[in-house]
Amino acid sequence: DQVSNEMLDLDELKTQRASVFHRQLGREPYDLDEAWDFARSNAERRGMAATLARAKATGNTVAIPRAGVAHWDAQLELMRTLSAAGAGVVPITVDSLTRSLKFEDAAKALAQSTPDRSVLNGYPLLAHGVERTRELISAVDRPVIVRANAIDLRLVAETAFASGATGFVSGPMYATLEYSKLGSLEVSIPNWQYIFRLMGEYAAHGVPIVEDAIGFAQSGTCSVPSLMHVGVVLDALIMAGQGVKHIVPYQMLQGHVAQDVAGCIAVGTLTDEYLAKLGFGDVRTYVASSDWNGAFPARQPDAYGLLAANVLACAIARTPVNYVKTIEEGIGVPTAAANAASIRFTRYLTHLISRQATSLLSPEVEFELELNLMEARAILDAVLDMGNGDPVRGSISALATGVLDIPFSPNVHVRGNVLPVRDADGAVRFLDHGALPLPAAALRIEAERLASRRARSGSGELSYQDVIDDLSFLEFEEPTLPEG
Ligand code: 5AD
Repeated sequence: DQVSNEMLDLDELKTQRASVFHRQLGREPYDLDEAWDFARSNAERRGMAATLARAKATGNTVAIPRAGVAHWDAQLELMRTLSAAGAGVVPITVDSLTRSLKFEDAAKALAQSTPDRSVLNGYPLLAHGVERTRELISAVDRPVIVRANAIDLRLVAETAFASGATGFVSGPMYATLEYSKLGSLEVSIPNWQYIFRLMGEYAAHGVPIVEDAIGFAQSGTCSVPSLMHVGVVLDALIMAGQGVKHIVPYQMLQGHVAQDVAGCIAVGTLTDEYLAKLGFGDVRTYVASSDWNGAFPARQPDAYGLLAANVLACAIARTPVNYVKTIEEGIGVPTAAANAASIRFTRYLTHLISRQATSLLSPEVEFELELNLMEARAILDAVLDMGNGDPVRGSISALATGVLDIPFSPNVHVRGNVLPVRDADGAVRFLDHGALPLPAAALRIEAERLASRRARSGSGELSYQDVIDDLSFLEFEEPTLPEG
């Protein structure tokens, strides 16, 4: 039958668990009663939901890095280093082979890895397994989030939760439309609903697990904040539909401080608003600002500058979570030292700025906030209408007609008629909004805001070349002085 936002039947989950474990791992599913016992006592000592709730209540920000290496000893050392540097939650980033279900290849690469040399770009969760990962998580003093992204993470999620992870990442919108070429929502949504339903069961048995709703946060490029919010809200509604109770709405920061601050505020407002509207008012949300997702400058001092612009926005918006990139993002997988330095730097600057937050809220933030809310609501209402109130059905229909559309998607099911461009100040606007149902008032504002960049361009018009030029917006070359 048709995919919808209805809660998966418990017996159906059991049947699916048996089949997925059998097919992908050749074994019986984990014993959930045993897993809940471990996970419950673990969550009481180091639970991510409690940490985020405390931050939200006190106006503090939890800094969270990304980090994963193949070898168990090195992963423990890495997590301890990051915890000491001020990470409030520590990550286990899973390697790409495991994410793409190549568990045996990941195990071979693990065998070739040493504490000093990782042959994988993350921690091979399935190869290490539940027992070893429980030991790892029990050996650090902070809550642990397992980080991965793909359209089928069912066994990664199973293993993460059984091992004591109290945080997990992603959802169908992000995993499918930003990370997959051929995957369709019809296939990926049920995979994710399995994970969310499992999370709901953990929650019902005393183990709250936090889930990141990333939505349409652009990978590698920029996007218009209101459109990114739409994806976040849709991911969140699908999570809530299966019983997830703790959601982290994402705002990917893009280097324009007022627009970034507004985005952080808007995404929280919209997620809460639509959760309540669809009857999920008991879900708790904790907004995360996430450092720029595109190309980073390779020069370390420049990367510090970019991180600083992001921290500034996060501190003004006072988001309870800040996902921190590193000064080596422009080079590759960071060393523990570079990752720790980036966390410490972020903690320091957050401490300095957050007390001044109120005085830094400008009329420009207010303007961007209103625009984001107006645009995102128009798109979300149209999507929900297309599904007669069901966000799953609505998303699938809306994607097919372009009522839901995103720029630069690698996915073949996305129309790709939307183009973002930065205005003269660097805020991101719609150059082309495709078939997105934006109100006339919003379109007028978008066009007005592009006027000064238009005027600056030779032809008086903006083109695809301007969109391409924006890819290096966050790079900076000193102008060379004329000779002589
Ligand atoms: N260690 C640290 N950071 C990682 N990322 C991905 N894998 C790792 C890893 N093993 C980070 C990169 C990337 C983001 C999505 O996750 O910064 O941009």
